[in-house]
Amino acid sequence: MALHFLLLLFAVSLVAADEDPFIGVNIGTELSDMPHPTQVVALLKAQHISHVRLYDADQAMLIALAKTGIQVVITVPNEELLAIGQSNASAANWVSRNVVAHYPATNITGICVGSEVLTALPNVAKVLVNAIKYIHSALVASNLDRQVKVSTPLSSSIILDSFPPSQAFFNRSLNSVLVPILDFLQSTDSYLMLNIYPYYDYMQSNGVIPLDYALFKPLPPNKEAVDSNTLLHYSNVFDAMVDAAYFAMAFLNYTNIPVVVTESGWPSKGASNEPDATIDNANNYNSNLIKHVFNKTGTPKHPGIAVSTYIYELYNEDMKSGPLSEKNWGLFDANGVPIYILHLTGSGAVLANDTSNQTFCVAKDGADPKMIQAALDWACGPGKVECSPLLQGQPCYEPDNVIAHANYAFDSYYNKMGKTPDACDFKGVATITTSDPSHGSCIYPGSLGKNSTFGNFTAPSMNSSSDSSAYNIHSYELRIRSLLMMTGFLLLGLILL
Ligand SMILES: *[C@@H]1O[C@H](CO)[C@@H](O)[C@H](O)[C@H]1NC(C)=O
Ligand SMILES: *[C@@H]1O[C@H](CO)[C@@H](O)[C@H](O)[C@H]1NC(C)=O
Ligand SMILES: *[C@@H]1O[C@H](CO)[C@@H](O)[C@H](O)[C@H]1NC(C)=O
Ligand SMILES: *[C@@H]1O[C@H](CO)[C@@H](O)[C@H](O)[C@H]1NC(C)=O
Ligand SMILES: *[C@@H]1O[C@H](CO)[C@@H](O)[C@H](O)[C@H]1NC(C)=O
Ligand SMILES: *[C@@H]1O[C@H](CO)[C@@H](O)[C@H](O)[C@H]1NC(C)=O
Ligand SMILES: *[C@@H]1O[C@H](CO)[C@@H](O)[C@H](O)[C@H]1NC(C)=O
Ligand SMILES: *[C@@H]1O[C@H](CO)[C@@H](O)[C@H](O)[C@H]1NC(C)=O
Ligand SMILES: *[C@@H]1O[C@H](CO)[C@@H](O)[C@H](O)[C@H]1NC(C)=O
Ligand SMILES: *[C@@H]1O[C@H](CO)[C@@H](O)[C@H](O)[C@H]1NC(C)=O
Repeated sequence: MALHFLLLLFAVSLVAADEDPFIGVNIGTELSDMPHPTQVVALLKAQHISHVRLYDADQAMLIALAKTGIQVVITVPNEELLAIGQSNASAANWVSRNVVAHYPATNITGICVGSEVLTALPNVAKVLVNAIKYIHSALVASNLDRQVKVSTPLSSSIILDSFPPSQAFFNRSLNSVLVPILDFLQSTDSYLMLNIYPYYDYMQSNGVIPLDYALFKPLPPNKEAVDSNTLLHYSNVFDAMVDAAYFAMAFLNYTNIPVVVTESGWPSKGASNEPDATIDNANNYNSNLIKHVFNKTGTPKHPGIAVSTYIYELYNEDMKSGPLSEKNWGLFDANGVPIYILHLTGSGAVLANDTSNQTFCVAKDGADPKMIQAALDWACGPGKVECSPLLQGQPCYEPDNVIAHANYAFDSYYNKMGKTPDACDFKGVATITTSDPSHGSCIYPGSLGKNSTFGNFTAPSMNSSSDSSAYNIHSYELRIRSLLMMTGFLLLGLILL
């Protein structure tokens, strides 16, 4: 009993470490026409991408990322691990060239030491711990160890028996490497980096894992996976894998190391033997994943602790070898054109499956201006449309005429009402169009921007009403936390007595 509560106390310190979750993007570079770093950065900015992970420490990329506010995780490539794991001086040299030379202009916040080393290069595993420690010592020597966290991305395949999550454990033959790594992560306040691919879990399950469960689609309650030990309900593979990692760590007595997912995604195209690598599935997976992370629902084991995630990946990498799907994990092609438009705007039923056809509601050509004015007044009054962007000095004030203002107000109302066709009538003076009337900084409700796959999802969500509920969750967490702490301390007191 007491142990149980003490464990809860540990779990609770995870909450304290939690910050606002983020979505980042991995930038692979195996493209025949890899865009120039300045183009890459222009795309990141246009898409409001605030966190990226590089698979190396490319100097031109690090320079292009300077003064952008984008947080950058860089990687010691697997090929360099042997040298760094065997020489403190090489590690110091690496940190000096790739971190010290760029920080703080480029906001480097993490270093991945290798990439899936334990599974990709088992023979290098023995130097991995030293490589991690040497890189960290060099950061300490440069007084950057608090700003720059060190970890190593792990393949989720090292977690065995991952369902039910409560029974999961790390492949025991890796314990001699994993235990010192977990010790390191714990003592340096770093995090477990985990690559999670429900696509492969689904593919390899031979039909055991339903596609909807992999894609975060709602499941009927009787289809949800239940962990019979904990009675926790799992509605998607992603959460089950993250919890499997928490349980596998707990099994080794590490209960306060947070998880960051360094790779997750879904391919949008594959060969005939990869029928589920489709645009729709990729869009659903990534859209739902992003909403899931920002929603702060957390996982069943750690509700409210969202797991920040880097999407795999920014560009389709046409030079990747392997099956066709390998070349098609990207959100964009080399020209920065989205492969698909993520559907991130709330639960709007139409947008949710309208990935290329956006619809807007505007004033009908040739309609009576007096009737349009009346409809505009109604929309901004009894219709309860948020019309402040139409005020002088606001983004949609210009052009200052009744048609332009009515277009904005009609479209706002139409969006507010879930884009049902009868919400775009206004006594016959309004009509639905597919061309986006947004102009300049006046972005219409429902607009994703022509080439903006992330659209304005992150920015407006900051001020959306859902944010107040996020606040509530937070204070709820805080209350629970202090309650648990009190209970924990009380029990501790009882034991001591
Ligand atoms: C769309 O792409 C064009 C050209 O690539 C660029 O000028 C424009 O700023 C982009 N718009 C958005 C909203 O990202
Ligand atoms: C880097 O990003 C972190 C997180 O937003 C922020 O706290 C820090 O001040 C930034 N550092 C620099 C040098 O910009
Ligand atoms: C490695 O170098 C750091 C300074 O960069 C030093 O603090 C540390 O003691 C060295 N470790 C070993 C094992 O030589
Ligand atoms: C566990 O790891 C060892 C060493 O890398 C590997 O040979 C073995 O196949 C793994 N076991 C499983 C079940 O994946
Ligand atoms: C975890 O801690 C328990 C209780 O202190 C101990 O019995 C067990 O051996 C530990 N397990 C490991 C893997 O260290
Ligand atoms: C967001 O969280 C709420 C409750 O926390 C839940 O009802 C809702 O379905 C979630 N939305 C998504 C898209 O996950
Ligand atoms: C959206 O998807 C649902 C179910 O998949 C379908 O019934 C509906 O017709 C779709 N709506 C549009 C506008 O495509
Ligand atoms: C877009 O809309 C048009 C007209 O409604 C329709 O013919 C077309 O199939 C739609 N495209 C997609 C990808 O839904
Ligand atoms: C996103 O929203 C911000 C503030 O609302 C606005 O300034 C910006 O132009 C928008 N960007 C896009 C691409 O819609
Ligand atoms: C969010 O709200 C604050 C205060 O209400 C306001 O100052 C800020 O401009 C808003 N941000 C956006 C992106 O709308």
